[in-house]
Amino acid sequence: MSATETHSIRVEPTQQSRLSQVDFNNLKFGKYFSDHMLVAEYENGEWTDVSVVPFGDLTISPSMSALHYGQAIFEGIKAYKFEDGTVSIFRPEKNWERFNKSAARLEMPEVPEEIFIGGLKKLLQVDKNWVPNVEGTSLYIRPFMFGTEAALGVHPSATYKFIIITCPVGAYYNKPLKLKVETHYTRAAQGGVGFSKNAGNYALSLYPTRLANDEGFDQLIWTDAKEHKYIEEAGTANLVFRIGDTIITPHDDTILHGVTRRTIIELAQHWGYKAEQRHVSVQELIDGIKEGIVTDAFAAGTAATLTPISTIGFNGELYELPAVENREFSNKVLSYLNDLRYGKIEDPFGWNLIV
Ligand code: COI
Repeated sequence: MSATETHSIRVEPTQQSRLSQVDFNNLKFGKYFSDHMLVAEYENGEWTDVSVVPFGDLTISPSMSALHYGQAIFEGIKAYKFEDGTVSIFRPEKNWERFNKSAARLEMPEVPEEIFIGGLKKLLQVDKNWVPNVEGTSLYIRPFMFGTEAALGVHPSATYKFIIITCPVGAYYNKPLKLKVETHYTRAAQGGVGFSKNAGNYALSLYPTRLANDEGFDQLIWTDAKEHKYIEEAGTANLVFRIGDTIITPHDDTILHGVTRRTIIELAQHWGYKAEQRHVSVQELIDGIKEGIVTDAFAAGTAATLTPISTIGFNGELYELPAVENREFSNKVLSYLNDLRYGKIEDPFGWNLIV
């Protein structure tokens, strides 16, 4: 029996599906939640009580440790529906691996494959009708874990909940992005938790992002904490550029190692492009834009998929990027990944996990 068999997961079906209340032609990101969720409890050093139950509120103690000391991590994954109704999840094992790296850094227990991947498969078997089948839509999957011990001393929680919720979604961003290079506030420092997908990384981004929004920007480009010289990520997604003949994405332990970003680099290498994961200075990017050799620039993430960047703001100046329709690389990746994820072409890399 494989490690991801789902036979031991208890299922309590909902008495009343909410599916008919969803407007599948107007899927705002993260607004509609599917009928069921997977819940598992961790206590006395082991995971117990793994069940698929109706989506609903949780009862928590006001002294629950995650509320006070922030042991809370999550992932973002997407499932797609093929024309014949097959449901497929895109590279969830990579998210499982990253989830456990986040857990280790926050002194939380690992979630085994049979609960993370097996639980996800079981949940999607139960809620398969929630996976939309219109191109451009998908089922967004949010696995998360948090410390549940009712205690105010600063120590790792003794108990945890692992939950997976899902929601049918359309685009996270519906237009090219205007990004501001942030040179004052910091997302992550060396030795910190920038590579982990923990809730705090998102909380700290909200105030500086709102300031940028007030100036008319959609998002920030975070830079390194020490010198604000090197580009990191956009907070909601990684960043990828084509400078000259090279596809480049910033790389450091201070940024999230995205599954979409990794997929793009693997594809670029497979197609024979020069592709590099390395430090990218703001100056290299700005000089490249001025010289006209930055021919592609986009945000890459599970929620964001590939969202083109139209404008970059740096030190009070705005730098415009080439017209989206002229961007050879990102348009090629987007169209290939769409075809692969919706089962229209072969899957030579084994990236689709069929439910
Ligand atoms: C994702 O891309 O899955 C994320 O978690 C990003 C978040 C801003 C929605």
